[in-house]
Amino acid sequence: MRLNLALILSIIIAVGIVAFGFTYYQITVERSKLNSELETRVAEVAGELSEYDVFYICSSKYDIESFTDSIKHRYNLSGIAIYFSKDSIVCSSSTRRFVKYSLDDISMSVINKKNVSSFININQESIYQFIKPIGEDNISHYAVIYYVDAGYIDNIISKIWFRNFLRWFMQVLIISIITTMIIRFGVLNPMNKTINWLKAARAGDVDILKRQPHTKLLLPLQKEVIHVAKAMFEAKSKAQEEARVRAGTNAIWTPGRLKEEMKALLQNKQLIVVSNREPYIHVREGNQINCITPASGLITAMEPILKACGGLWIASGTGDADKETVDDRDKIQVPPDDPKYTLKRIWLSKEEEVHFYYGFSNEGIYPLCLIAHIRPIFRIEDWHYYKKINERFAKAIAEETKDEEAPFILIQDYHFALLPEMIRKLKPEAKIAIFWHIPWPNPESFGICPWKSEILKGMLGADLIGFHTQYHCNYFLETVNNALESRVQWANYSVKRAGHSTVVKPFPIGIDISSKDLELTEQKIQPSKLLEKYGITAQYTGIGVDRIDYTKGIPEKFQAIERFFEKNPSYIGKFTFVQIGAPSRTYLKSYSDMIDIVEREAARINLRFKHQNWKAILLLTRHHTHEEIKPFYSSSDFCMVSSLHDGMNLVAKEFIASRVTNDGALILSRFAGAVHELKGAIIVNPYDIEEMAEAIKAALEMSSKDQHVRMEQMREEILKHNVFWWAASLLRAMRNI
Ligand code: G6P
Repeated sequence: MRLNLALILSIIIAVGIVAFGFTYYQITVERSKLNSELETRVAEVAGELSEYDVFYICSSKYDIESFTDSIKHRYNLSGIAIYFSKDSIVCSSSTRRFVKYSLDDISMSVINKKNVSSFININQESIYQFIKPIGEDNISHYAVIYYVDAGYIDNIISKIWFRNFLRWFMQVLIISIITTMIIRFGVLNPMNKTINWLKAARAGDVDILKRQPHTKLLLPLQKEVIHVAKAMFEAKSKAQEEARVRAGTNAIWTPGRLKEEMKALLQNKQLIVVSNREPYIHVREGNQINCITPASGLITAMEPILKACGGLWIASGTGDADKETVDDRDKIQVPPDDPKYTLKRIWLSKEEEVHFYYGFSNEGIYPLCLIAHIRPIFRIEDWHYYKKINERFAKAIAEETKDEEAPFILIQDYHFALLPEMIRKLKPEAKIAIFWHIPWPNPESFGICPWKSEILKGMLGADLIGFHTQYHCNYFLETVNNALESRVQWANYSVKRAGHSTVVKPFPIGIDISSKDLELTEQKIQPSKLLEKYGITAQYTGIGVDRIDYTKGIPEKFQAIERFFEKNPSYIGKFTFVQIGAPSRTYLKSYSDMIDIVEREAARINLRFKHQNWKAILLLTRHHTHEEIKPFYSSSDFCMVSSLHDGMNLVAKEFIASRVTNDGALILSRFAGAVHELKGAIIVNPYDIEEMAEAIKAALEMSSKDQHVRMEQMREEILKHNVFWWAASLLRAMRNI
């Protein structure tokens, strides 16, 4: 309120000063214009009366008084006088009262033989006098004095003052009202909201910090505050983590603990991560450039590590606005709103993308390793491009590490099987690990690949090869044993070939979860609230989150849901399964066909069980952010992972992480790597529709005690073996080789 008053007073004074200045200027101009008009008019009158007239009158002893009177009326004068001498001034009696004020000016005019004019004030009356000398031979003897009422000029000037005062008053009134409203609604309200928000956030209420008030004006400030608050929370949790580390080595792995560990392991060298998929993709949408995080288990796992420890991530730049956002070395600091590490983008032409990424990587190796009834396709030109792009990445890595003799390089996935050997040739001292995020097949299956030896040799250039499970390690070693001239040492799971040893070890990957995620920080959202948006009501919900990929078993999952409704019709109208499906690799027919199959299946089942405002399956086929998915995880009664084959499947772990109150159930395919750790899940064979339908019923009807026991065990597991533990174990293993 005090702010309002002070501001309004300032506005009144400022507007007043400006208005006064303008008015003063205006009246100065106006007065001088009116004065000069008056002067011209009187001079004209004086011009009309010739000297001859005056002489004639004077000499003929004409009735001067009546003459002056007639002129006075003819020209609308206040008076006229004729001066003969100091003692002889002829004028009407009404004019006489002016004359005594003019005597000095008349003498001056007569002596100097010059017109004299001035304004005189006679008893509050403003009178303009004009004295015109008349005479012969340059000697003046007489003068005619004209008097005109100049009072009207003052009247006009007063009116201008009054008008301007009124205008000023109205302006001040209107501006004050508008300003008060702007201050109140545009500044004070958002400011008060922000202050309350800050107070709550300062008290450590993270939930409130996330719900920042939507005030455009203060958005930049709020963003900064969020960064500062996050930094403070991070510093606080880091301090707590360090305290925990000091308290015992069995403590949970956290970003802070990993950072400390990395410092010791890497001795201040930077970690280099290489993958095909980049963690941030810049895409153009209209005039705007947006940044998206792709749906990828690899990204979900690696991003928190780089965020915690910094480093360089080298990946293909695939967004149509990627080139516009990097510097001249093709680098960008990410995450964009809170940079923690560097992303370097490698550019692939359309043709290279088709052959390297879609061709050999995703039509060759991927189906070869996943064994999900899609026949691998091996084309020679795809293979050439695969080698070419691996070489391009090898050169980029060598360039980035030219100042380090033994850099730490962590290669990701099946796109770069040849990279370890290529880097080894360029940087013999480098510490190289490759982590295979997808399964490794049995030796017979792998044996069909025409370039199996090259792939294996390429991988064996690494010091360490990591898989999610011991099964995949065993299959890999058997494959090497069958296909290459080498020595497989089963005692320590390593391979010796061409004088170089490679250790093969399982590192089941985890997710970004630490002790703070065990606490309930957000209010649980009711499923009905989430479904409302889609015009659906349901009492129970299940959730599935997958890339739309033929390995994920989505059609099988839908068939199981159909079978469940057949067997349990009482759930019709009460239970809805929400399937979030991120379209993936749609350039390939096998993937675009899968989208059609999934959509058709959902539509068919929904039609079959059609019921008022309800659907059996709510299929959401678009890319969803983690923030969008979270409420579905935390509010559903169960999560269903039905992969036909999967390296790990982090969706299962993310679902568990969201169950802070230890409720809910997980249905998990026995062919997903996660099954080896998540013993509390309801394990299913995704090919057995009957079994999966039973699992849905069991999940929906599981007692809360059972849910609690299972969930608690699984939460302990994912906390203990989180992604920071994974990174630390892998880097320790690299270091120890
Ligand atoms: C799997 C692979 C990852 C890949 C992800 C998404 O999880 O192991 O390497 O990033 O799928 O696939 P995309 O082809 O979109 O990168």
